[in-house]
Amino acid sequence: MDKTLSYIEEHGERFLQELFDLLRIPSVSADPAYAADVQRAAEWIAENMRQIGLDAVEVLPTPGHPIVYGEKIISPNAPTVLVYGHYDVQPADPLDLWDSPPFEPVIKKTDIHPDGAIFARGACDDKGQMFLHIKAFEAMWQTGELPCNVKFMIEGEEEVGSEHLGLFCKENNEKLSCDVILISDTSIFSNEVPTITTGLRGLSYVEVEVTGPNRDLHSGVYGGAVANPINVLARMIASLHDEKHHITIPGFYDKVEIISEEERQLLNSVPFDKEAYKKDLGVAALEGEEGYTVIEQTAIRPTLDVNGIWGGYIGEGSKTVLPSKAFAKISMRLVPHQQSDEITDLFAKHFESIAPPSVKVKVTPHHGGEPAVTPIDTKEYRAAERAMEKSFGKKPLPLRSGGSIPIVALFEKVLGAKSILLGFGLDSDAIHSPNEHFGLFNFRIGLKTIPWYHHFYAELKQNSKTA
Ligand code: BES
Ligand code: MN
Ligand code: MN
Repeated sequence: MDKTLSYIEEHGERFLQELFDLLRIPSVSADPAYAADVQRAAEWIAENMRQIGLDAVEVLPTPGHPIVYGEKIISPNAPTVLVYGHYDVQPADPLDLWDSPPFEPVIKKTDIHPDGAIFARGACDDKGQMFLHIKAFEAMWQTGELPCNVKFMIEGEEEVGSEHLGLFCKENNEKLSCDVILISDTSIFSNEVPTITTGLRGLSYVEVEVTGPNRDLHSGVYGGAVANPINVLARMIASLHDEKHHITIPGFYDKVEIISEEERQLLNSVPFDKEAYKKDLGVAALEGEEGYTVIEQTAIRPTLDVNGIWGGYIGEGSKTVLPSKAFAKISMRLVPHQQSDEITDLFAKHFESIAPPSVKVKVTPHHGGEPAVTPIDTKEYRAAERAMEKSFGKKPLPLRSGGSIPIVALFEKVLGAKSILLGFGLDSDAIHSPNEHFGLFNFRIGLKTIPWYHHFYAELKQNSKTA
């Protein structure tokens, strides 16, 4: 790996400039106004892939945003790593909360990133992390040190639920055949405590509409006798948790995996600092399910959160109105072995059942996804462990994450391969928020870790073949 690592040293500055070019393209998948930019980002990646020697590079259209594919097959007998990532980003708003424009990347120092961090929408999630794989490939290929086959599948719809990727995988099963899927779209615990993500939560997402009277009413003339749908919605939402912060939907916990004492101990072995956590978030106290640590609350326990709530008058000044309708978007994070469709059904039935006769409710499901776990007694995992040990100089700990990448569970089902979640971001990097950033330390260590992954994976697989 010597030549690869010196190549990275030598070309690191250019890699960064290239990433800046990609970050300047506002590939917001959720907003149709950016469709042309999403397309442009896909083409930019394809062009970069072609330049560095990847074969069969294509921008493949889907009914939504395109998928970028590229590969290098060095030998039919060598193991194949399929790299997955996404080039789409979350909307940047609220824009006025950014200290610098979201699509004009700049490097700034922070307390957590004293060496500097790249500030831009997508810097961490996931352009910056995805791009590490393209550049790591470039370094290995250009120096003749690529030890295995590599395929790239970079999508443009992750942030909107990967709607068309499932079918794409089914239809291209052969083309995508691989031994392992490698993904950098998660976090490490801290720059001092490297971790490998061994679990992702699933997701069930619904929108609710509560309708009271058939029109907006004068809140003086009618108020007091007619149900206000916003009051009712607030009451219904409040009833979804009890005083111990358990979710009250009947059957919600029925299938929740009971984690062994041993794994709970392992999870809690990272040096979590509750005071620092509160300080970083600017809160005086935390609030979560009784009987679980913060790590457990976000990693192995399911949750229910309102993501948005609206209705009535929210313009300038005041308007006295008893609105006809109220709305909310509600997400539930799921853990093994809860199933997204089942939980959505349980939610809908319960929500309808608790509605008072004074209102009508409508529950509309949005995209969902299943949880995923990665076993740690495999070659795939061990290669990641060794790679991080090389780059960080210490052995990484396994840690489940609270986030979701719904396509991971589907990969396992459709492609029959496990995913290794070798992320390099930090939870504090403000992904999905204003001032998203990605540390230069994280960028550089990611670039080094990935070639070591390929190296150790090829070695471990090769040994098992000849043994
Ligand atoms: N990369 C994130 C998921 C993530 C972030 C996992 C940090 C672990 C640590 C991904 O892009 C994402 O934002 N996923 C969405 C789900 C999707 C269906 C919109 C999520 O978790 O909200
Ligand atoms: Mn992501
Ligand atoms: Mn995301």
